[in-house]
Amino acid sequence: MAEERRPDDMTRITTPELADEFIEKQISSLREQIGDKKVLLALSGGVDSSVVAAMLIKAVGDQLTCVHVNHGLLRKGEPEQVIEVFRDQMKANLIYVDATDRFLDKLAGVTDPETKRKIIGGEFIEVFAEEARKLDGIEFLAQGTIWPDILESEAGIKAHHNAGGLPEDMQFELVEPVRILFKDEVRVVGERLGLPAGMVYRQPFPGPGLGVRCPGAITRDRLEAVRESDAILREEFAKNGLEGKVWQYFTVVPDFKSTGVKDGKRTFDWPCIIRAINTTDVMEVTVEHLSDELIDHLVKRIISEVPGINRVLFDYTPKPPATVEYE
Ligand code: XMP
Repeated sequence: MAEERRPDDMTRITTPELADEFIEKQISSLREQIGDKKVLLALSGGVDSSVVAAMLIKAVGDQLTCVHVNHGLLRKGEPEQVIEVFRDQMKANLIYVDATDRFLDKLAGVTDPETKRKIIGGEFIEVFAEEARKLDGIEFLAQGTIWPDILESEAGIKAHHNAGGLPEDMQFELVEPVRILFKDEVRVVGERLGLPAGMVYRQPFPGPGLGVRCPGAITRDRLEAVRESDAILREEFAKNGLEGKVWQYFTVVPDFKSTGVKDGKRTFDWPCIIRAINTTDVMEVTVEHLSDELIDHLVKRIISEVPGINRVLFDYTPKPPATVEYE
């Protein structure tokens, strides 16, 4: 069994050598724990679950089955990247479930932020459980639990959901290979396991995905405007050397329209809000001030390339008083 608790004297994993040492040790304890049994993993494409997948592929190969549920609220290119990295490159058993319609149908007309979050979380577990029931002989469930999750859960800050809240009848033994690591250590380990830097160093992304950046009732066209504007923002930040420097950046498309003019004709479209922030602990957040040149360029690109947008606004509010996300 892997260690349950981080030893007080554990050296912070900051170098490839330390990462390799950790990986080697984990692989042998994973093999010991799992034997010839089968393991299931919900692979979101986030840093933690991706690193867990890469580690398990190395340790037990095709005894691992990954399930990637696309809830339709992922960023542009994300499901494709999960398939490419894990199925094509790492040869993982990957079940890809495109549940977009199912999620968006359930969310149709729902305006309350907390209800939206509950629907997304609940439906996610349901889809995952359905896939798990189709598989035979699974005894283990792998999770991307990391050390801060344990600490926060012990401190009563947030509940750490073991097994992601799966139904009572589905009892698996847990496999948590990055449980004693801090986030920065997970990243170093992920790189050594061969994951692309874009996956390992990606900015935080909320579980309910673009759903919280499409405030109010989600519609497919407005969601698409969020996804396309987010892709432009990410592309421009990367081109301008801001990727990896700015902590988090994204777009929001609120549910109201304003008058504009394009090619001599009246338009009545949504605004797109840009938010770019820096923080260390996410409790307090400052705003990244962009250059005038970049602002002008972003406005131009978003207006001309994203259907349904006729204004670009910049959110320069720190936290507190504003939270990072809009819902
Ligand atoms: P707020 O909006 O609370 O966000 O200031 C703080 C940080 O947490 C992220 N966030 C989430 N992450 N599931 C997550 O995994 C969620 O439901 C969730 N909501 C917010 C947010 O992106 C920011 O980095």
